[in-house]
Amino acid sequence: MWWCLDMVVASIIFSTSSANIFLSNIDLTDVPIESYVVQAGDNTSFPCTGTTEYSLVTELEWRFFTKTQNIKIIEYAKGNTIVAYKQHRISLQSKTHALNFKPIIAQDTGNYICLVNNRPRPDGVLQLIVQDRPDPPGRPLVMGFTSRYVNLSWAAPSDVHFSNVLYYVILIRVGEKGEWNDNGNITPDNRTNYKMTGLKPYSVYSFKVIAVNEMGRSDPSQESYYIITLREIPSGNPTIITAHNTSSSAIHVSWRPPDLDTINGEFMGYRITYKQRKKEHNASEIYIRDPDVKSHVIENLETYTQYLVSVAVFNPEGFGPASTVLVMTDEGGEYCFKSIFISLTFYLL
Ligand SMILES: *[C@@H]1O[C@H](CO)[C@@H](O)[C@H](O)[C@H]1NC(C)=O
Ligand SMILES: *[C@@H]1O[C@H](CO)[C@@H](O)[C@H](O)[C@H]1NC(C)=O
Ligand SMILES: *[C@@H]1O[C@H](CO)[C@@H](O)[C@H](O)[C@H]1NC(C)=O
Ligand SMILES: *[C@@H]1O[C@H](CO)[C@@H](O)[C@H](O)[C@H]1NC(C)=O
Ligand SMILES: *[C@@H]1O[C@H](CO)[C@@H](O)[C@H](O)[C@H]1NC(C)=O
Repeated sequence: MWWCLDMVVASIIFSTSSANIFLSNIDLTDVPIESYVVQAGDNTSFPCTGTTEYSLVTELEWRFFTKTQNIKIIEYAKGNTIVAYKQHRISLQSKTHALNFKPIIAQDTGNYICLVNNRPRPDGVLQLIVQDRPDPPGRPLVMGFTSRYVNLSWAAPSDVHFSNVLYYVILIRVGEKGEWNDNGNITPDNRTNYKMTGLKPYSVYSFKVIAVNEMGRSDPSQESYYIITLREIPSGNPTIITAHNTSSSAIHVSWRPPDLDTINGEFMGYRITYKQRKKEHNASEIYIRDPDVKSHVIENLETYTQYLVSVAVFNPEGFGPASTVLVMTDEGGEYCFKSIFISLTFYLL
């Protein structure tokens, strides 16, 4: 048929049901419905049922109607065509009086009739179903979280435009001003929740969700509220740079802090512990409640004694791993321990 070329993407669902639709002034009882599924963005056209290229048409009217709308979109009389609706996309094919969409969009979903030569009834109702990308899903909500993952949940799109959601893509942003990243986090099906793993402790995150159907990806949802993952004890240890006696009863120790992203909470400072290597008593502790301090002198030590000195960082959750060196106070002879050169870390001696 003449209009088939433009109809490659359309498929007929059913064609002989009758329209139980009441349209003011137009009786549609027993008028057959032809139903087509088309994809948004395509250029398509649909025939005026009951007319052909050879019909004598002096007047013609195309109407569009849904449950809430009833609009005259095209009027043709005595060789003049008036397109009253969406002129930039809709037109009348001059010879055949078919309705052209260039392109068709989701809002064109609905029913169309064409009334020829002032006839009171159309020969058919054209029912168009336009498939499109889904609307955006609802804003994701954080339902639960730990230091390493977040449970997200969201509402499905309000309109999927006649193509079910296949899965969702979760976008993630690190920090308050970071970039949005699509790190390949997708749901296994169209469930509307996701456990986002692989997060870092005590870090700021936010999320957006995209719905995907066969037509493509939706626009992203609104972004979630910011979330800060829970703290963990620090995972990094300071590096001891020097440790040596400054008198026969004092040891000077200096260090470099660990990477800040291994603190896993608020950086509160350092704990220095020291004990005589050979004695079985508990270590003494010194708390330095200032993360900017990088050295300390331990005093009131015994002379000519080996000490194990450890330095660890702490946050409200607890202490990180310690770095330990062996240092000696002395009475004679030079003794200077530079841990950086032998880089020994003893944990339990
Ligand atoms: C529809 O027609 C317009 C104008 O002729 C053209 O630019 C566009 O590529 C066509 N779209 C499709 C999907 O064929
Ligand atoms: C996250 O979701 C999983 C699976 O539903 C559940 O087992 C877990 O308890 C949730 N975690 C939190 C912190 O809410
Ligand atoms: C999710 O998939 C199921 C099964 O394919 C389908 O019935 C349902 O409508 C889909 N949900 C959405 C929002 O597309
Ligand atoms: C460190 O110990 C050595 C050896 O006992 C001693 O000679 C030196 O005076 C001490 N250093 C300081 C700064 O007291
Ligand atoms: C060492 O500490 C433990 C626990 O704090 C305590 O029970 C013990 O008595 C201490 N030992 C010495 C020798 O101080």
